[in-house]
Amino acid sequence: MRAPARPRRVVLEARAKLNLGLAVGPMRADGYHDIASVFQSVSLADTLIAERTARGYSLRIEHEFVALKGAAPARGRAHVPAGTDNLVLRAARHACERLALPGGVRFRLIKRIPSRAGLGGGSADAAAAILACARLHGLRLPRARRIALALGIGSDVPFAITGGTAIVTGRGEKLSRSRLAEPFRALVAVPRWRVSTPEAFARIDRGKYALTAWGRSLRFAGSLRRKRLRIEDALRLGNVFEKVLQHRRPEFESLCRRIRAAGLLAPRMTGSGSGVFGVVPRGHSVREAAAKFSGPELLFAVRSVGTGLQSRTQR
Ligand code: C5P
Repeated sequence: MRAPARPRRVVLEARAKLNLGLAVGPMRADGYHDIASVFQSVSLADTLIAERTARGYSLRIEHEFVALKGAAPARGRAHVPAGTDNLVLRAARHACERLALPGGVRFRLIKRIPSRAGLGGGSADAAAAILACARLHGLRLPRARRIALALGIGSDVPFAITGGTAIVTGRGEKLSRSRLAEPFRALVAVPRWRVSTPEAFARIDRGKYALTAWGRSLRFAGSLRRKRLRIEDALRLGNVFEKVLQHRRPEFESLCRRIRAAGLLAPRMTGSGSGVFGVVPRGHSVREAAAKFSGPELLFAVRSVGTGLQSRTQR
């Protein structure tokens, strides 16, 4: 069935991402950093429901706990701002203003992706809000327009709009789509402590980590731009944020040890943390690996997917 021209209601799955590798360059004149990263959409997703209204923007947030292990975090909820600071409302206002769309939108967000964990949940929600606003008005935006709107909200939002597998450079807006040689499954462990992205970038500047390996990392990321990407190759890019953990280093190292002890491969931090993922070896059971994992972290089972946003249109 073809989507109606102006549906009353749009439902979107907004998927989390993993950074299979992430290198950071020196700070630029605009205060941002160039990055070289392999982004991968995964199955863990929030749901955004958007309805056209006569005027104004509103948002109701519900939390759904989908971790395989770990206690539902009471404090974790405070990490998601419910008011005008929420990325859904900021992105909706931004998109509707830029696109001169009339009326308002009522949003309902079902949150499953933990925040400040490096999983890109806020960016995925923002990307979903931009697409929802366009769809509610029957607009199909060209790729360049979608990416420009997304970059106005945050550096990771262009990837969230595009999704799948991509080698990402610039501030996050230069996307070179790629394809995994084989899909994979992973467990993501999210510690109780979370990370502020601007602070993590500031620690990289103070430690001058960007200056040494950046040129090599950028060339290596460039060499990954081929049709079929092997996850082992992407992981070789490393994640520079693992170097700036300071007093969290012992906890991170303990987590990596416990991920390996559960039979998982290549523990790697995603984004600026605090989430760390381990790849489930081919032929191994996710449930068994999860049962073997010990520790207080929230544990999520994910699989690699080919798109960032998945839509259902309802009358
Ligand atoms: O773009 P976004 O709002 O997500 O970035 C949050 C903060 O992270 C920025 O204000 C900046 O301090 C830092 N950042 C950066 N370089 C990037 C992405 C983010 O310095 N490529």
